Amino acid sequence: MSETVLVLDFGAQYAQLIARRVRDQGVYAEIIPVTASYEEIMAKEPAALILSGGPDSVYREDAPAPDRRILESGLPMLGICYGMQWLAYALGGRVDPGTPEYGPARAHRSAGDSSLLRGVPQEFQVWMSHGDRVESLPPGFSLLLRSEGAPCAAMGDEQRKIFAVQFHPEVVHTEHGKEILRNFLFEAAGLSGGWDMGSFLDIEVERIRETVGDGSALVALSGGVDSAVAAAIVQRAIGERLTAVFVDHGLLRDGEGEQVEQAFGSRSLRFIHVKAQDRFLAALRGVVDPEEKRKKIGNLFIRVFEEEAAKLGPIDWLVQGTLYPDVIESGPGKAAVIKSHHNVGGLPDDLKFRLLEPLRDLFKDEVRLLGEELGLPRALVRRQPFPGPGLAIRMVGEVQAERLDLLRRADAVVRREIERAGADAEIWQWFAVLPGVRTVGVQGDHRTYGEAVVVRAVSSEDGMTADWARLPHELLQRIASAVVSEVHGVNRVLYDITSKPPGTIEWE
Ligand code: XMP
Repeated sequence: MSETVLVLDFGAQYAQLIARRVRDQGVYAEIIPVTASYEEIMAKEPAALILSGGPDSVYREDAPAPDRRILESGLPMLGICYGMQWLAYALGGRVDPGTPEYGPARAHRSAGDSSLLRGVPQEFQVWMSHGDRVESLPPGFSLLLRSEGAPCAAMGDEQRKIFAVQFHPEVVHTEHGKEILRNFLFEAAGLSGGWDMGSFLDIEVERIRETVGDGSALVALSGGVDSAVAAAIVQRAIGERLTAVFVDHGLLRDGEGEQVEQAFGSRSLRFIHVKAQDRFLAALRGVVDPEEKRKKIGNLFIRVFEEEAAKLGPIDWLVQGTLYPDVIESGPGKAAVIKSHHNVGGLPDDLKFRLLEPLRDLFKDEVRLLGEELGLPRALVRRQPFPGPGLAIRMVGEVQAERLDLLRRADAVVRREIERAGADAEIWQWFAVLPGVRTVGVQGDHRTYGEAVVVRAVSSEDGMTADWARLPHELLQRIASAVVSEVHGVNRVLYDITSKPPGTIEWE
């Protein structure tokens, strides 16, 4: 069994990010609420504790506080922000309301060495977000860092292996945050590391087995990464007691339906491939409004899934590919309550099952690693983001079978050329759009009247903002020739040079 670091969550915005940064260092980390009892904490046999930040002040009557016995446990500890204030207060220091600091601040090292700051320069930028501050250190602690707004920005007791920082080492804006966390884990706490996604897989599979017992589970596959990885890990745990229903709405990109079929068709689970393209096309007949398209597709997806579920008899668990960012978006601090199944895409109350969310602690790139660990094809796991309503919202106007076919073929050419040129490594999404515009062209002495295709390629960090990708002209030229010569019916290619905002990434 590998080492576990427990992140005691005081209601922090960043608790998961802390856990994730620890895992990045090769040490398994998980979150536990601050309300956990001492026995619950110790039952997890942690090798170290990290006390997260939180919105409170230690002096408030109902301020969150862990069981004080952790202070005597001998476990190495790192307090972050509120976690620091609680440690200072609980160990006999003083915490006062100070001038709040939000955002960047300069931290200066004090004299003397500390294992926490090994290799870190005398002065560097940190990211602060606090109201209260530590005014005097508890007995046994040395001052390690100070900033303008925090006379004590970091403190440590090497003997007891208890350290604390006022700033947030887990956010990217803190320079050397990674080194500080690494120092805590390996220099101060003396951990050995060596954890990886393979170990996560073993632990999680065991946990799923225990949770599900001899029950049965159902998962809806959409063709996306998250549902595929969630399905694969649950399948690893309970095998044929998992049924996967792949609702193929016919709006996927070239080859994606086959990819899912190949990835799951041969695994030991019940795999049902519902080819529902005709039903979706019928539902979309005459629909041109983008929101209306989304609604029709979402509703029908659920209906088709429900019909299949009804044929299966009682099911105990519904598997969802919820990721940690989905949890945050639903509201910080409500992580435990949000996914009651009213929120699961509108599933009705009379479907009686409990939710199994094996990915809810992970970030997207961790899910991709896990997917590879589970042996899913690279093309599926490394797939660029793709909207649930699929190609329907990449064609302006009505969704028709012939237009879908045209768009799918044009999109395959665009993707092939961009990937062949290696340009995909730098960009977030790259695809074709059918704007529904016909123009005059000339091909082989003949006048044509064909469809225009728009190429969209954007760089982005998270999809919230984006810029158009500066693809080389030679590549754009190759894409344009290839699309027109390979996709009959297309005679013009345009490149979209709109950023987000004011545009969106998708056209609809
Ligand atoms: P926009 O077009 O809003 O897209 O700039 C931002 C990101 O979200 C994806 N997207 C969707 N994903 N269902 C989804 O699952 C949708 O209806 C949807 N619309 C947009 C889009 O591909 C981009 O990554």
